[in-house]
Amino acid sequence: MFDVKEIRKDFPMITNHPDLIYFDSGATSYKPQCVIDEVRNYYEFDNANIHRGDYDISFKVSKIYDDTRKTVAGFINAPRKECIVYTYGATSSLNTVAINAGNKLLKKGDVILTSEVEHASDILPWFIAAEKSGAQIRYIPFNEHALMDLKDYEECFKDGKVKIVALPYVSNVMGYIYPIREICMIAHKYGALVSIDGAQGVPHLKIDVQDFDIDFLSFSSHKMLGPAGIGVLYGKYDLLEQMDPIFYGGGSNARFYEDGRIILQKTPEKFEAGTPCIEGVLGLRKAIEYLESIGMDNVMEYGIELSEYFIEKLEKLDNVEIYNKGSQSGIVTFNIKGIFAQDAASYFNKMGISVRTGNHCAKLLQNVIHVNETIRASLYIYNTKEEIDRFIDVIKDTTIEKCVDSVL
Ligand code: ALA
Repeated sequence: MFDVKEIRKDFPMITNHPDLIYFDSGATSYKPQCVIDEVRNYYEFDNANIHRGDYDISFKVSKIYDDTRKTVAGFINAPRKECIVYTYGATSSLNTVAINAGNKLLKKGDVILTSEVEHASDILPWFIAAEKSGAQIRYIPFNEHALMDLKDYEECFKDGKVKIVALPYVSNVMGYIYPIREICMIAHKYGALVSIDGAQGVPHLKIDVQDFDIDFLSFSSHKMLGPAGIGVLYGKYDLLEQMDPIFYGGGSNARFYEDGRIILQKTPEKFEAGTPCIEGVLGLRKAIEYLESIGMDNVMEYGIELSEYFIEKLEKLDNVEIYNKGSQSGIVTFNIKGIFAQDAASYFNKMGISVRTGNHCAKLLQNVIHVNETIRASLYIYNTKEEIDRFIDVIKDTTIEKCVDSVL
């Protein structure tokens, strides 16, 4: 296991705000100095566009940009670097899959199988794909803890209509890890594809796209210590080959003609029109190297340790309702009885604690857990048990009066 005290020294946000407890890494993580330096270094020493300049600095940056695909591929165990498409974030990756499915895969009567646990970015694109193609959305039955039974899941395929499954690796509200290997195995048995929203899972857990046999995996850099504005779409190569870009423009075409014909670049460059987030790719590489230096097994183990410690402490409080007692990825979701979540967050803010409240963009989840507004604390490698203890003391003393005072 790593030394969290040492880890904390790498994060300027912690050094610059020593008393702030940041429990909102599910929204965006802090960045280590090496990532910040990399982005800064690009602007100070290597500022050039990629694949467009006939000079040394452009060649150098283009090479790092291209080589980073190998780093990303290694991180998720993709079979080749051409399976890695750079996008603007998990949302644009998920949209790329759904738009293609709506245009090319789905037809009237087909079914998109998903859940009411989804973040907006993994359900709205599928609504549009359904509207476009005439396919239907079907929701996997989840119990009130937002967990599924694989037998119920398999039952959803029995009429032979499911063509694609869209599910998260980890729920952004409940923090549960879904059984991706089994989800893919069952889907494939019935001839369906699987698109996984990895936004909350990839930063915290080891993932092996070949072992799990995932067809598409989407994730963002900014939740895994890297810069914002850059994300990844992993796809099996033969599937990416069959797909169209969402955007057209410079860099993604090999030739075009006055009669409207376009000859696209090969996969994955055909998906990357326009100047990409170059500094984001360079920073993402550093973030992956940083996570790998800690070891994803350790990251995962520490996430479990923090969640379990937090939940154990919360369970001892009478004024708290916890919604995800089995969470294993640093996400703890709860309410203080009789207090509106956002009012509680205002008080926490006053006490130097940052959390997210509301429905967390998962607006259908209330159909499952029967609660709309919740407080979500999302922790990462730089958080400590001492911070949890401090938060627990604040929660213990939270009253309506204190919350109202901090809202006014
Ligand atoms: N998707 C991010 C979250 O769950 C913003 O907070």
